[in-house]
Amino acid sequence: MALLRLLVFCALAACCVARSPPQTPLASFPLPRSCNDTEVRAVAGFALQSLNQDRKDGYKLSLSRVHDVWEHFQEDMGSVFYLTLDVLETDCHVLSKKAQKDCNPRVLHESVYGQCKALFHINKPRRVLYLLAYNCTLRPVSQRKIHFMCPDCPGPVDLSDPRVLEAATESLAKFNSESPSKQYSLVKVTRATSQWVAGPFYFVDYLIKESSCTKSQASCSLQSSDSAPVGLCHGSLIQGPLEKSVSVTCEFFEPQAQVPGGENPAVTQESKKQPSADDDEAPQKNKAPVSSPSVTAPKGSVQHLPDLDAEKPEASKGKSPGEAAEEKSPEDAFPVQLDLTTDPQGEKLDVSFLYLGPEEKKLVVLPFPGKESRSTECPGPAGETNPLVLPP
Ligand SMILES: *[C@@H]1O[C@H](CO)[C@@H](O)[C@H](O)[C@H]1NC(C)=O
Ligand SMILES: *[C@@H]1O[C@H](CO)[C@@H](O)[C@H](O)[C@H]1NC(C)=O
Repeated sequence: MALLRLLVFCALAACCVARSPPQTPLASFPLPRSCNDTEVRAVAGFALQSLNQDRKDGYKLSLSRVHDVWEHFQEDMGSVFYLTLDVLETDCHVLSKKAQKDCNPRVLHESVYGQCKALFHINKPRRVLYLLAYNCTLRPVSQRKIHFMCPDCPGPVDLSDPRVLEAATESLAKFNSESPSKQYSLVKVTRATSQWVAGPFYFVDYLIKESSCTKSQASCSLQSSDSAPVGLCHGSLIQGPLEKSVSVTCEFFEPQAQVPGGENPAVTQESKKQPSADDDEAPQKNKAPVSSPSVTAPKGSVQHLPDLDAEKPEASKGKSPGEAAEEKSPEDAFPVQLDLTTDPQGEKLDVSFLYLGPEEKKLVVLPFPGKESRSTECPGPAGETNPLVLPP
């Protein structure tokens, strides 16, 4: 009984301590937050936008839901959010200037989905929003399940398939032949799908750069090898029974002087460096502060793994897709590691460069919190997203 009284007293004391002073949470460790919270969703939107802007390669990601979220409030430094986000690849290349809201997730049978972990620093009074680090793992949607629903849908093909290069080369040749003067060369193929319709159909996406040759030069071998990609082309090569047909459209990342045969160049004047305010996933956009950090080395990476069903060992090949999917634990299905420290006490990270004042500013970062005691409101609602492209 005495023990019980003591416990009650302690609980009351803890409660009183926690209540005073008001507005100053004492937590010096991350606390779980609801994944369906408006502010959390806004933070997730900003984090994903910064993540997309940090990348040099691949396609922009969009948010399908917040999977897990912890907030570490640190007195006058604001907060560090530990975010686990379920994401979908969109049809916009990361180098494209299109606004996030104009980037659509791919059609279901061509979906690429996965999970990102991100550490995001937010200090509203000081108008700081800053992505500290991220890592993501993506996989294509299970072709076995897609094939079951849509046997004739186009499926991904290996980028090393010679037909893929042929489709890229032939469609780029068509683009160049329609170009009045400027010529372009292939940087690399970024995506390819194929389909069989009375013959092979190949669809490819590839990056192009400006070639040092112009059309009037009969031949030229001198090429500046370090020039950056200037656009993304979508080409197709259709091998019919009698003839083949080639199509091409290109989107330029910056306005071009003369754009032949392609779509209009993207002319959005958005800043590349800062989260801009036109993000659908960030409902609090008008109130949001904006930071202007110096640009440094990439803060993370996106790894691509094969289709979950394609990776199965031979022994489980005979099982139904449902059974097969359940064999992998969620952590194995989309392994994402993001630890700026392994010290359970945390480490101090110097973020003075984000603050213009002379004083030193440090944030405490901890090992990424586990899922043991996450909020019951996690994962959050996934909107329209098909369950086939949601990580477990
Ligand atoms: C991000 O993932 C890679 C492996 O894909 C790992 O080597 C790296 O340490 C991770 N970054 C952090 C900050 O944990
Ligand atoms: C999320 O929040 C909205 C309102 O804020 C509520 O209507 C909805 O039911 C919630 N969804 C879940 C899955 O909790």
